[in-house]
Amino acid sequence: MEKSLVLIKPDAVRKGLIGKVISKYEDNGLKIIALKMERISEDFASRHYEEHIGKTFYEPLIRFITSGPLCALILEGDNAIERIRNINGSTNPEVAKEGTIRRMYAENKTENCVHASDSKESAKREINLWFGN
Ligand code: CMP
Repeated sequence: MEKSLVLIKPDAVRKGLIGKVISKYEDNGLKIIALKMERISEDFASRHYEEHIGKTFYEPLIRFITSGPLCALILEGDNAIERIRNINGSTNPEVAKEGTIRRMYAENKTENCVHASDSKESAKREINLWFGN
């Protein structure tokens, strides 16, 4: 069993998509083992996105992710990290496959509805950051 940290980002929350997004994961057999909703600080956002510090999109990304409440979840299942990334689709909604969350609902590369851990190492780090041990 593998775990992944998923964020339903402020754009998706504003558009009333929490239920639709969660259904995509649950319909795929992934299990929710933790869930919370909050508006994060810039300091917390910089810890979550520390690998992107200094990149051109970093400042807009931090402004966006702190712009309103988001929903953080831990999802569990066999091969969960890859399965969730396939359900989410590419970072850029214009090239994301049909039927993926980002293709269906995302505006652009920043306002792209969801985040998911990209490796076992980042899942461990992100789950610990968001939910502790
Ligand atoms: P996420 O999965 O949350 O992880 C890093 C985020 O940075 C990513 O989703 C996008 O929202 C954002 N991002 C990555 N690449 C770009 C880019 N080229 N332009 C704008 N935003 C980006």
